[in-house]
Amino acid sequence: MSDWRFETQQIHAGSAPDPVTNARATPIYKTTSYVFNSSDHAKNLFALAEFGNIYTRINNPTQAVIEERIAALEGGTAALAVASGSAAITYAVLNIAGAGDHIVSSSSIYGGTYNLFKYTLAKLGIDVTFVENQDDADEWKAAIRPNTKLLFAETIGNPRINILDIEKVAEVAHRADVPLIVDNTIATPYLIRPFEFGADIVVHSATKFLGGHGTVIAGLIVDGGRFPWSQHVDKFPGLTEPDPSYHGASYTTVLGDGIAYVIKARVQLLRDTGAAIAPDTAFSLIQGVETLSLRIERHVENAQAVAEWLEGHPDVASVNYSGLPSSPWYEVAAKYAPRGVGAVLSFELKGGVDAGRALVESVTLFSHLANIGDVRSLIIHPASTTHSQLTPEQQLTTGVTPGLVRLSVGLENIDDIKADLEAGFAAARKVSAANANA
Ligand SMILES: Cc1ncc(COP(=O)(O)O)c(C=O)c1O
Repeated sequence: MSDWRFETQQIHAGSAPDPVTNARATPIYKTTSYVFNSSDHAKNLFALAEFGNIYTRINNPTQAVIEERIAALEGGTAALAVASGSAAITYAVLNIAGAGDHIVSSSSIYGGTYNLFKYTLAKLGIDVTFVENQDDADEWKAAIRPNTKLLFAETIGNPRINILDIEKVAEVAHRADVPLIVDNTIATPYLIRPFEFGADIVVHSATKFLGGHGTVIAGLIVDGGRFPWSQHVDKFPGLTEPDPSYHGASYTTVLGDGIAYVIKARVQLLRDTGAAIAPDTAFSLIQGVETLSLRIERHVENAQAVAEWLEGHPDVASVNYSGLPSSPWYEVAAKYAPRGVGAVLSFELKGGVDAGRALVESVTLFSHLANIGDVRSLIIHPASTTHSQLTPEQQLTTGVTPGLVRLSVGLENIDDIKADLEAGFAAARKVSAANANA
């Protein structure tokens, strides 16, 4: 029900007791295909004249529950779940951009997305312009060309933890008649609901806080339903003109502007390129999302405490966390994310790269790995790992300095988290002292 509050939607949206078995939890529908009721039924499904299950590469009933649930939590019209966050971002772009087109992206984004845009999309003939200061509306405006199809940014940047001024960038996008696509992975809809501020499409790496337990890789695309594709027929012909692979149907004509985008991504891109989510994975996501608000509240409480403690720590040079009054994004955060800015933060040690490496290697409660959004606390040195395929200059534009350490603060007891980091600082001090004496 649409008037249910977030905490109720995260448990109930999109699901009901199984009509055949009365099972209360959503079953894992482990099937590749679905029996047609008749030849006409089969024909209608293939012609998009009727919605229904055909083949699990395109849709699946377990998948449908997580899609409806996230669409409800984001306040969108519909969603598509796919095999990873990277697949979701790839599809979100390819759904409206192709060879000869151009997109504009903030440079303050996850390193993998930067690579996708800079190198892989270039091979497909899609040009990207990176905006270095995403807070500067004029830089976004200046980057737009006649063949620009979309603007892209992260609502909370990884790893700079800067907060996107969604209204400002959405206005630039809409003046240019293109949608704003945002990656809401670090925030989750519990902290930021981008559609309420004018974003048009939301993507997620569900691998992180939505799944929440570090067990599954998955992604989602959510349609806000408000972008008027059909008013821009020249700009988005893939949505408005007949698709020969569906007997000449036009998505906006058949489905309307509210869901044309997300349905096209499913029935055309996913059908043809196949980065489908497994039913078991969809089930794990459903389990994770049921406790999303509770986990995020505790993640935020712990991360805020760690950020404040680090800022006062004698070994720390600087902390990136927009929940700190010292952050340049503190006020923007209060507007867009009043419940907190999530559990990812980064900081620079006074001892630089060597001290950072010693800290990462000596902590024991924190796991040294390349992920965020687990119940467990995680730590990494981005310059030598997640962002290592970028040049040093590119790293700086994404916010990665050589000595930066990134944390994803978990749900453990805050005293244990601080004690573990303190042991790491002690090890880092030894390395710094040895360097000074060398
Ligand atoms: C903000 C953000 N978006 C997208 C991705 C890619 O998601 P996935 O690893 O699920 O492909 C990541 C992964 O780290 C991320 O941090």
